Amino acid sequence: MIIMNDQAKRLREIMKNAKFEKVPDEKKMIKKNARVITVTSGKGGVGKSNSTINLGLALRKLGYSVTILDADLGLANIDIIIGVLPKYTLAHVMSREKTLKEVITEGPNGIKLISGGSGLKNLANLTEEEVAFLIENLSSLGENTDFMLIDTGAGINNTVLSFIAAAGEIILVTTPEPTSITDAYAVLKNIISNDKEKIIRVLINRVEDYEEGADVFNKLNTASQRFLNLPLECLGYLYDDKVVTKSVKLQIPYLISHPKSLVSQGIETIAYKLTNESANEVCEVSGFKKFIKKFMISYKKSF
Ligand SMILES: Nc1ncnc2c1ncn2[C@@H]1O[C@H](COP(=O)(O)OP(=O)(O)OP(=O)(O)O)[C@@H](O)[C@H]1O
Ligand SMILES: [Mg+2]
Repeated sequence: MIIMNDQAKRLREIMKNAKFEKVPDEKKMIKKNARVITVTSGKGGVGKSNSTINLGLALRKLGYSVTILDADLGLANIDIIIGVLPKYTLAHVMSREKTLKEVITEGPNGIKLISGGSGLKNLANLTEEEVAFLIENLSSLGENTDFMLIDTGAGINNTVLSFIAAAGEIILVTTPEPTSITDAYAVLKNIISNDKEKIIRVLINRVEDYEEGADVFNKLNTASQRFLNLPLECLGYLYDDKVVTKSVKLQIPYLISHPKSLVSQGIETIAYKLTNESANEVCEVSGFKKFIKKFMISYKKSF
């Protein structure tokens, strides 16, 4: 424990290093406020990965650059949905076998995809040099993208919590199923115990109609306001749509395979909403470097 605290202290010192405090050149200044959004859920299989990749594509359509970090430490998710299996992951960067550039997979329509793989496992055991190396690499990613979307695995574990703690914005995905809603509430409780200022947007996936979506949101929001004193933002609803399964089988994201479908229209609306809110507020809290710092500090603290 003492070693960990010591390590955390040293980590903070590394973070303070000139590299992170330097004023970047003008080009980098434009990108330095990459919006970092962690997509999470309580229950598994509610549609995080499909929503993440298609949201990324919808943001691309609006002209933004998008990087997706697949932080699911279990099975590769996004990879399968887009039918591209990256050969390398962040683990190869950590072991210095590959450069960051070499592990970026070009996804559809110019989306950049990075697989965390085992590179995000055992973060607490990294040495000071390894931590600095990881930060340097992840920061350089943030400088080159407008949106960094992080797809996490289901449930609450240290890695997921650290990504939640570090990102300025959270998209919490739930379906209308009561089990999914109660699990989403459990995640909210966890988030609020660490950070009361977090921007949490709820995406209700697989709704029959928008009334059902609104009903689910109101239930969750009422409980959150009453018991956690945490108001939620409604990001939007996505229809339960057969084209999702079809597109997964095709390994082509639905926004590409079925662009006119209800679910595609839904995700485009959500992308539009996400980019037309008060950008200042979100950008301020989710500058990428801030994100990396918070992530590592939170992760180390959790041990
Ligand atoms: N809007 C939708 N309409 C119909 N089916 C859907 C919808 N969204 C997701 N699904 C179904 O749910 C499955 C799981 O979706 P997805 O892999 O995106 O979930 P996940 O939350 O990322 O899962 P995990 O927790 O395992 O990572 C899809 O393969 C698809 O069959
Ligand atoms: Mg997934």
